[in-house]
Amino acid sequence: MCGIVGYTGKAAALSPVLEGLRRLEYRGYDSAGIALAVDAGGPLWVEKRAGKLGNLEEILGDQVPASHAGIGHTRWATHGGPTDTNAHPHLDNEGKLALIHNGIIENYVELRAELEKRGHIFKSETDTESVVHLLSDARKAHHGDLAAAMREVCGQLRGSFTLLAIHSDEPGRIVGARRNSPLVVGVGDGENFLASDVAGFIEFTKHAIELGQDEIVDITSNSIVVTDINGTVLEPRKYEISWDASAAERGGYDHFMLKEIYEQPKTIADTLIGRVAGLDPEITAGIDLTGVTKVVIIACGTAFHAGLVGKYAIEKWSGLTVEVELASEYRYREPSVDANTLVIPISQSGETMDTLMAMRYARSHGARVFSVCNTNGSTIPRESDAVLYTHAGPEIAVASTKAFTAQLIAMYLLGLHFGRIRGVLSDAEQEAIALELAELPAKVEQVLETVEPLRALTRQFKDATSMLFLGRHVGFPTALEGALKLKELAYMHAEGFAGGELKHGPIALIDQGTPVVAIMPSAHSVLAEKMASNIQEVKARGAIIIAISDAPLASADHLIRIPAVHDFLQPVLAVVPLQVIAYEMAIARGNDVDQPRNLAKSVTVE
Ligand code: G6P
Repeated sequence: MCGIVGYTGKAAALSPVLEGLRRLEYRGYDSAGIALAVDAGGPLWVEKRAGKLGNLEEILGDQVPASHAGIGHTRWATHGGPTDTNAHPHLDNEGKLALIHNGIIENYVELRAELEKRGHIFKSETDTESVVHLLSDARKAHHGDLAAAMREVCGQLRGSFTLLAIHSDEPGRIVGARRNSPLVVGVGDGENFLASDVAGFIEFTKHAIELGQDEIVDITSNSIVVTDINGTVLEPRKYEISWDASAAERGGYDHFMLKEIYEQPKTIADTLIGRVAGLDPEITAGIDLTGVTKVVIIACGTAFHAGLVGKYAIEKWSGLTVEVELASEYRYREPSVDANTLVIPISQSGETMDTLMAMRYARSHGARVFSVCNTNGSTIPRESDAVLYTHAGPEIAVASTKAFTAQLIAMYLLGLHFGRIRGVLSDAEQEAIALELAELPAKVEQVLETVEPLRALTRQFKDATSMLFLGRHVGFPTALEGALKLKELAYMHAEGFAGGELKHGPIALIDQGTPVVAIMPSAHSVLAEKMASNIQEVKARGAIIIAISDAPLASADHLIRIPAVHDFLQPVLAVVPLQVIAYEMAIARGNDVDQPRNLAKSVTVE
């Protein structure tokens, strides 16, 4: 949700800033803007445009002045529509100070009124603009010390923010701050970087510094100073980035999403590696199950669906009671949580505000927190007692695919771990699950080898107004995920239902020719027959059945075969054709696959 980059160093700044924005564009694409400090002095050079980064690039031309420091922003609009004027950076009235922001300033109305009284002229409708005026005054009060001014301003702001500022009087200096929104530092040689996440500078350096809550960072080409909000200098928390820069490239695929779908055999294997026989004691050390009476999984969107599948596996394999909660709803109903509650937040980005806030609520009531996350150094794992990282690598397409299957693997690993330490799973059961888990990468590969005809089939339904997804048991959350993918990408009405629930209402939606995707429980399961009946019910009312099944199915109009697998693990295979359907439908309907309208990948506002 808004991508932020900053660069200061030996290179001409425009190129790393633009490159960073390109890699962070998945965070928001309502507008893009850049401010550069000009080497020759004088006013900042600023360009910004509504729409995607491409719109900005088109107008850049070759008139860009020499500059070695700059900041860039790609926006997901909250306050003020996606216009040129509302695009970041925002400037103070002298045009000397530029500021970019990710998050929401909750007290901006009061601040704006106060600043207007003091004579500041506002140009935009954003919450951000109040901050640049405030910072401008504070800098003067601090005799030109931008970092001191930033600390003072942060003390006056409510809400969530990552802020970066640059001033034309000190062209090589960038000052940043963060509260409840992400910011990382990239440490280079004669150059330094700031970005919302490491993708923003991954091709230039693998050395990073994580920033904590309410920390202020002050960088030049050869210095990095991190302080708390009171100005106390902090020891930088350095780490190495394990992601490969090429993982953030399209690598010959038409879209990141397609590439990420095809990466799944590898990302599943990477998430499993060395963990099937038992989780690393380093991971489990921070988590003690003694006295745990309840597990609560909190997550949003796709991660929530992974949590729903996790509930089936963890309850069955460990005997623990598991609740799955939408993070955005959780804390507002003031649920009962105590020291015997184990909370598992699941998050690809590790920065989703709803998930973070739900987790903080649980923590403040004494819960233990074991997070599942894909992004090293992000806020959710940093604030957890323990973390199980998924190894999906950078996921760039806004619609999540490989992160979802990696989250499923994490759920199974946790179920297996809890079942093992609680003595619920016999050795033979543990071995059987472990064996099936180990076979998953090859089975996903098999599914990918057979999905091509599904692309042509999907196109047949491109003008459908609605598509329904049915499943039972773990097939139900899989159906929810299939419907979510289609909504996100095809902008089409899509819903997932539990097969048995259909007759209680949703069956009224079925009309002649309604496409229904049925995720069949494995042929040996008791639910296979029940689901077959559910299919007959919708078929009798005119539905066209696209079945995903490990066995032949006479009632299917179209059959997509997947390999047989342990009942609980089936979502890992069944979701792949659903991802392909959504991908192909987006293309057939002329939609932007990697950056669907209105969405952002990392939602850092509530
Ligand atoms: C956004 C994304 C979804 C994602 C959800 C949770 O809504 O568009 O794809 O599933 O956030 O994100 P997280 O990073 O917490 O997994």
